[in-house]
Amino acid sequence: MSLAVYPGSFDPLTLGHLDIAARAAALFGTVVIAVAHNTSKAGRHLLSAEDRLDLARRATADMGGVEVDLVPGLLADYCRSRGASAIVKGLRSGTDLDAELPMALLNRDLGAPETVFLTAAPAHAHISSSLVKEVAALGGDVSGLVPGAVAHALAHAMRRQGHPVP
Ligand code: PNS
Repeated sequence: MSLAVYPGSFDPLTLGHLDIAARAAALFGTVVIAVAHNTSKAGRHLLSAEDRLDLARRATADMGGVEVDLVPGLLADYCRSRGASAIVKGLRSGTDLDAELPMALLNRDLGAPETVFLTAAPAHAHISSSLVKEVAALGGDVSGLVPGAVAHALAHAMRRQGHPVP
């Protein structure tokens, strides 16, 4: 069995992310949910990297073969340091593919392992971190979209920002 790295912002982690992680662990043996820097989102994250790591660790505590880690710099360097066999990404739509393809090709140039795409489960294909944040900001129920601890943390973060959370 081998190790795959599943990178993302995870701001916040959703049930769709958890499903991809579980399926990647079944395929590779070990998957690392890797909280990485997306410089195009710098300063715009709702949750701190520490909170995102902590929430991912709590949500995956009972899942075999799933680790959580921070990627301090380039993903390709992190993959090399872990001896990873693959990068795993989830695909919900053609729009996701359009965004992911240049990253996969660039990571390849940087010496990263193959990027393997897993299709999102139909039940999760509409879930995105951005939509989850929008629903939470407007006081909606996100309990069917994210793990329980994440729903709690979101409500807290939204209240802190002055949003009308019940
Ligand atoms: O969830 P996101 O924000 O779409 O994930 C993007 C992410 C974090 C996977 C991407 O920005 C990334 O790989 N960042 C690590 C830094 C890096 O290696 N960048 C160049 C390769 S794309």
